[in-house]
Amino acid sequence: MVDRQYLSKMSPVFSLLVGTYASLLFVFSTVAQATDTDVHLMVTPRGSINRAAGENIFLKCSVEPEAARGAVGNIRWYDPKNDIVMPSAPTNSRAFSQAGSDQSLSLYIMNLKKDDAGEYRCQADFPGHDPLIKTTNIDIYEDVKFVNAPASQTPIAGGPGKILCEVTGNPAPQVDWIRDNQPISTGGRYKIEQDGLVIDNVMEEDEGDYICRASVDSTGGLRSQTINVVVHTKPEIEHGGRPTDTRRVEGDVASMSCVVTGRPAPTITWVFLPTGEDVTKMVDEQKRNRHSVDPVTGALTVNDLMKRDQGDYKCMATNPAGTVDATAQLFVVEKPRFDIVSNTTEAFGRSTSITCTVRGDPAPELQYIKEGSDSPIPEDNNGKYIITKRERELTLTINQLTREDDGLYTCIATNEAGTAEKASHVTVKFKPTFEHTPMHQAKTWLENPLPVNLSCIAEAIPNATVRWEKKQQNTLTGAPFLMITPEMSHISMSQEGAVSSIVFRPRGLEDFGEYECIAANEIGEARHRINLYLARVPAPIQSVEFASVTATTIQFRIQGADEPDNLETQQYEVYYHEAGGDMSNAMQRVWPVNPNGLYVVSDLKPAHRYVFRFHATNALGISPATRDFERTMPDIGPPRPPGLVHDALNNTGDANSYVLLWQEPDDNGSPIIDYQISYRKEGENQPKMVVAPPRTGGQWSLTGLDAGTRYAVEIIARNAKGISAPLNFTFLTASAHSITRVNNDSGSFLSTSVIAGICVGVLLLLLLLIDLCCFFTAKRGITAALCRKCCGESKKLSETEDLEKMRTTDEADLNFEKQPLTTKQVTETTTIQTVYRDQAYPELEPEDKPSP
Ligand SMILES: *[C@@H]1O[C@H](CO)[C@@H](O)[C@H](O)[C@H]1NC(C)=O
Ligand SMILES: *[C@@H]1O[C@H](CO)[C@@H](O)[C@H](O)[C@H]1NC(C)=O
Ligand SMILES: *[C@@H]1O[C@H](CO)[C@@H](O)[C@H](O)[C@H]1NC(C)=O
Ligand SMILES: *[C@@H]1O[C@H](CO)[C@@H](O)[C@H](O)[C@H]1NC(C)=O
Ligand SMILES: *[C@@H]1O[C@H](CO)[C@@H](O)[C@H](O)[C@H]1NC(C)=O
Repeated sequence: MVDRQYLSKMSPVFSLLVGTYASLLFVFSTVAQATDTDVHLMVTPRGSINRAAGENIFLKCSVEPEAARGAVGNIRWYDPKNDIVMPSAPTNSRAFSQAGSDQSLSLYIMNLKKDDAGEYRCQADFPGHDPLIKTTNIDIYEDVKFVNAPASQTPIAGGPGKILCEVTGNPAPQVDWIRDNQPISTGGRYKIEQDGLVIDNVMEEDEGDYICRASVDSTGGLRSQTINVVVHTKPEIEHGGRPTDTRRVEGDVASMSCVVTGRPAPTITWVFLPTGEDVTKMVDEQKRNRHSVDPVTGALTVNDLMKRDQGDYKCMATNPAGTVDATAQLFVVEKPRFDIVSNTTEAFGRSTSITCTVRGDPAPELQYIKEGSDSPIPEDNNGKYIITKRERELTLTINQLTREDDGLYTCIATNEAGTAEKASHVTVKFKPTFEHTPMHQAKTWLENPLPVNLSCIAEAIPNATVRWEKKQQNTLTGAPFLMITPEMSHISMSQEGAVSSIVFRPRGLEDFGEYECIAANEIGEARHRINLYLARVPAPIQSVEFASVTATTIQFRIQGADEPDNLETQQYEVYYHEAGGDMSNAMQRVWPVNPNGLYVVSDLKPAHRYVFRFHATNALGISPATRDFERTMPDIGPPRPPGLVHDALNNTGDANSYVLLWQEPDDNGSPIIDYQISYRKEGENQPKMVVAPPRTGGQWSLTGLDAGTRYAVEIIARNAKGISAPLNFTFLTASAHSITRVNNDSGSFLSTSVIAGICVGVLLLLLLLIDLCCFFTAKRGITAALCRKCCGESKKLSETEDLEKMRTTDEADLNFEKQPLTTKQVTETTTIQTVYRDQAYPELEPEDKPSP
């Protein structure tokens, strides 16, 4: 230990001693061998060598001076690791190689590497001497190299960004930055770092060309890289362009917007979140893709919407700077649709129910409407109906089924997308009923009968089977009822829908009597009886009364015999002649049956006595005669009062006029001369008078009336024998404004034309009066001429003068017909029978009783 410490302390001294010794030795040897001291090795190039990596180098080591070459041998090179460089193939690019002779040796180093740097030593043996040595140093530097400095870079706006420019080199280069010919230095927004330029907050104006320059002081190396910077911005969804929750009806088109910004322009994809699919890849059952995305606007469109399209949709916008998304919901309103709706059948009196179930979203409102009704069946209805509502399901229970409940019940489903309806049929089974069968009896006769058709209408659900039975007359010989079968040759049976009928001609009395139509179904049975009666001629008329009598007419009230089992009476007939004559000269009058029971004989002679005899007739023939009724006609007298016409309140359409209507009365044997009409405002006393001629048809127009006023009217008929009792009634004229509103001009025109009409009427009336005066005083004038003409003609028709008179007075209402009498009823044939059409008469109290 002591020795070592000592040695280390002493080492500089020791080194100095050794060095001195070596120097002395060298000087001595040089001096000792004066010629040999010149022998040495030379390496070219001379001096230290500095080369860039990758270059090649060539070193040559030779013996100097040339004269000494023969004495020197075994020249060799040592590399920096002190290994002898072994020769290798000259083609090996990375290899050392050497070539030479005893006098020189060359070293080739291809593609210099950093590791190749160091001291290379050339050594040769010089016998008798120390080996010859020559060293040379190779320095290798690395050139400036941009290892991570892309020529195009895209920092993202809105945050710190680094423009990369990573440079290598040995010795390490220095990097500086230039933009627009201005150097950039650290400070402000810039910071130059080892591997790039950091920009504090990247903005769009940072775009442009940057030059990254690297230089090495020791070598003078200089390189630069131009970097083009494009600033990217992250995608953003514009405030107004965000997708919003959307509600659409099935089948419609829905669209959602997604308006984005960003550089470069982001690509937009829409994802249907329930399945996670990209909408552009979605297909439906028919392999249709109903979703589309507009490449420009980014909007999503869904065509022909289906319920399955409902859900959240996410819009995603992506560019190299980032991704943004937004989500919105699409609600598809599903239209109401029915699943199967069932029908039901149940028996009368029971309960039944029908249900409809429906699809649709939102759940539709449901209600039932019965066929033929406008309004839904209400929930509150005294227990007849019970309505049970569940979501998408409605049940209607009908209690106490009646036949009216049979029919279609329509279930109506409504939501915002529309309405659907579907009907259920409720069938109510019921026992057969004959309530619409009109036939309760039938009548026919035995001699040459027409076929009789007995029919019944059996209504039933389900359809009834119908059979017919005939009640047996004589129950001793068999069952009380005889079944009618299609095998019976004289009866034909038929069935058409609900109508069953049997048609036959009766063969004898046994075919008359009670028939029954029997209908049966699963609910029950019903029987309907039809009596088949043997028809006869009518029974004699039960009663005849004189209802009213005038000088020339008689009105009878006739009551036929009550024979429900016989054929209908079709008409009544009367034969009559003047007392003292006989039935061989009788006149006949035939009336169809009149529901009011009143029948009139007219054209009788005043103050004459007549005998009447009555019959009833039906399809089979004529009844026996009544007894004879006798009657003396009253003498000619004043007319009967005019009759009231019940619809006489008709308005003419003019507030200032009114058409009076009355029924022209019987003239009581003397023609009516005129009608005296007096009228006054109700409450006033002084009437106005007008005179209307006969044969106006019972119509006369009053004019110059006050509007909206009630008038009292009295109409009196006048003939040569005097005046009738008055017909009194009142009427109300139309109110003024209701008329003036129609047309003012025509109103004034009407009134002037009415005034003109009145003038003409008055003129005609005057002429008529003058003419009548002439007729009565001097048998001259138009009336006289007419009268003479008529009298002359009627004489050819009839010998009775009174008949002529009747014809002239009441021509319009009479209609003459000739009809032969059957010899069966009246034994002696008559010469002339005159049949008069029925004529309505005012009813009066009979003046006297029918003669016994
Ligand atoms: C119900 O009745 C209706 C009308 O009669 C008919 O159209 C429908 O097919 C029936 N429905 C069912 C399920 O039988
Ligand atoms: C019998 O009368 C019924 C009901 O009026 C009718 O439907 C049917 O056709 C008639 N039959 C014959 C054979 O006339
Ligand atoms: C029942 O009768 C009706 C006519 O009344 C007919 O249309 C229908 O076909 C019948 N039904 C059956 C099952 O015979
Ligand atoms: C009265 O009016 C009714 C109904 O407008 C009509 O049928 C009738 O013929 C009128 N009567 C007269 C006499 O104009
Ligand atoms: C008819 O009216 C007149 C007055 O206009 C009156 O004197 C007469 O009694 C009335 N007659 C009847 C039957 O009302």
